[in-house]
Amino acid sequence: MSKTALKTLGALMFVLAVWAEVTPVKDFNLEKMTGKWFVVGFATNAQWFVDHKAEMKMGTAVLVATADGDLDLSNANLKDDGTCWKVNHLANKTETPGRFIYYSHVWKNDNELIVADVVYDDYATVTTNKTSDEGFYIVNELYSRTQEASAALQQNFTQFSVDNGILPENIVFPPKNNECPEA
Ligand SMILES: *[C@@H]1O[C@H](CO)[C@@H](O)[C@H](O)[C@H]1NC(C)=O
Ligand SMILES: *[C@@H]1O[C@H](CO)[C@@H](O)[C@H](O)[C@H]1NC(C)=O
Ligand SMILES: *[C@@H]1O[C@H](CO)[C@@H](O)[C@H](O)[C@H]1NC(C)=O
Repeated sequence: MSKTALKTLGALMFVLAVWAEVTPVKDFNLEKMTGKWFVVGFATNAQWFVDHKAEMKMGTAVLVATADGDLDLSNANLKDDGTCWKVNHLANKTETPGRFIYYSHVWKNDNELIVADVVYDDYATVTTNKTSDEGFYIVNELYSRTQEASAALQQNFTQFSVDNGILPENIVFPPKNNECPEA
């Protein structure tokens, strides 16, 4: 095969990898997913993240199931100055269990969230497609019930992220941080 053909094939395989379909975990159970998770892994090619990834510290995500089966999602990060950064979104369920959609008034983007993998008392892999006037990007998060993630789990999250097009240098396992005080 010629060099050019090889290059074309390489590029094609990259595109296929990026567009690989992410499907929600089988038999997703929102009730079991509720409660507090530590965001022990974070991956995105978004420019704001590329610019700030070195300063990122571990935050939390608290998930609550509403009576309708929608997902109430609260993120919190304690900042270096001791103040707390918090954001809350109500994500609507869809016909596909494990797939939720919401509009963010904070970032003015449409979000499509999929729980790709979960062991309810241990970890979860969550991927979100974010679309706005400025474009499209993917955010992957590794949730853990503790502030730790095993090397195997980190490796798994890295593979998952590379498979959906995140550059290896944009996959981060942020250092531990104190938690925001409960509201
Ligand atoms: C994000 O978009 C890609 C490409 O259309 C799709 O394969 C993937 O399932 C989507 N993920 C989510 C969380 O919607
Ligand atoms: C979520 O559901 C509410 C109430 O049904 C609706 O007003 C809102 O537009 C929905 N959001 C999305 C992103 O579909
Ligand atoms: C690794 O990830 C895959 C798919 O995301 C999942 O099915 C598998 O159980 C994971 N394994 C470990 C050890 O976390």
